[in-house]
Amino acid sequence: MPPETLLKICLPCAEISPLVKTGGLADVTANLADHFVQSGHDCRVLTPLHGGIDTSELEIDDLPGLQDLELQLGGRSFKYSIGRASLPGKGTVVHLLRCPQLFSGKSLYGGPDEHLRFILLCRAAIEMCQRQQFAPDVFHCHDWHTALLPVYLKTRYAWDQLFAASRSVLTIHNIAFQGVYSGGILYEMGLSDSQDMLDQDDLNCDRVNFLKTGVLHADLLSTVSPTYAREILEPQYGMGLEGHLRDRQHKLVGILNGVDYQEWNPETDPLIFQPYSPGQMEGKEPNKEALAEELGLVYTFDRPMVAMVTPLTYQSGIELVQQVMPELLKSRAFSLVVLGQGEPHHERFCQWMHNQYPDRVSYHREFSHTLLHRIQAGSDLLLMPSRYEPCGLNQMYSLRYGTVPVVRATGGLADSVQHFDAKRGTGTGVVFHDFDANGLRWAVNTALDLYANKYAWRLVRFNGMEQDFSWEEQGERYIKRFRSLL
Ligand code: GLC
Repeated sequence: MPPETLLKICLPCAEISPLVKTGGLADVTANLADHFVQSGHDCRVLTPLHGGIDTSELEIDDLPGLQDLELQLGGRSFKYSIGRASLPGKGTVVHLLRCPQLFSGKSLYGGPDEHLRFILLCRAAIEMCQRQQFAPDVFHCHDWHTALLPVYLKTRYAWDQLFAASRSVLTIHNIAFQGVYSGGILYEMGLSDSQDMLDQDDLNCDRVNFLKTGVLHADLLSTVSPTYAREILEPQYGMGLEGHLRDRQHKLVGILNGVDYQEWNPETDPLIFQPYSPGQMEGKEPNKEALAEELGLVYTFDRPMVAMVTPLTYQSGIELVQQVMPELLKSRAFSLVVLGQGEPHHERFCQWMHNQYPDRVSYHREFSHTLLHRIQAGSDLLLMPSRYEPCGLNQMYSLRYGTVPVVRATGGLADSVQHFDAKRGTGTGVVFHDFDANGLRWAVNTALDLYANKYAWRLVRFNGMEQDFSWEEQGERYIKRFRSLL
């Protein structure tokens, strides 16, 4: 690529794998940053170094000129410094924002200072660029945590010619989380003089909404699948932002997330029991046997293993599982493993299933990366009956692992899984449409029947393993959109 076409990108984010991860956002920021850097772009990530991060594996270089800086937020003054370190694993270099006053706690979200943490993150990203005399072509923001950055560029930092040609992009990973606070924080935001830039209805209700502010001001809006980009224009999915998104529809694109196939490849995965590939599927069954043993389940050849890996929340459709799983466990022969935590009554339900069927159902509350890999390799079916799903990553991992996804047709699930058509031999999974018990019951029964039909089963698995959601392609779509802004 000729050097003049390489871009300068500043990518502030709350989470990045493997440093901090509460959800798929962290994987996507890590993979995107890695893709941008590998493609030769100058991508500077800024992410908070909060108290929960294990720094033992990090070698942090304190950057000269970026130490003991001060920022006034409302009546208080905050000291912060910026260092640089390679992420364990890939080695992508990231900038780390250190501010013990705000980020010393174990958890990144919540608490009375939450808004201050992310105001600081946005402003520190801009001020880091100023001090490095780095003029990004694009500030690539992610979710509500960094959604204020576009409005800061247009207000507090509008004077700085360094950013005269900079454009801002806001990627929405989950519209349900918006960062909504009382109007009282305007002073701390430093936007008391720019109230006209905020949503007036919110201000009248004494509210500010970080994500909405980003939707109003970013030069480009993106979300993590084409279907979700359409869905969030409707009240059912837009969580109150549908009107604002419709007003800026011409600026909204959907780009499906990608998969890091260096990590997610059953031929080379060091975490699984035995490697396998589309041409050598004999290796998969021993993974199921080993998984069953690890989970304390009874292994029976020909009994499918169904997996669910998801936060047990409103989004995931766990309530449908709650409605149909008891009768399915009674009437059909399969094992079930659930990995995820969430609302207490859903957790209790998973525990209850385990108590009822201790040798067929296993429930793990604590997330484990290793276990996730083993579940992907050792399961036959992956259940994702999501109420909504901006993209979803596990169904893409499971396709590569020959674990057939059973999904509801929404968001990225609709864009990454096609319903298997036995006549034509096409399709990669089982897809249902209606978000209700009948829909899920039909889907699970269909999938279990498919498993019993050896010929069809081989085909659907093979089709899935052939899918390619690599970042090379998806990351380039971002770059193309960035260039179109310049
Ligand atoms: C959020 C969404 C998920 C998406 C991920 C990464 O966690 O809920 O669907 O895959 O962000 O974009």
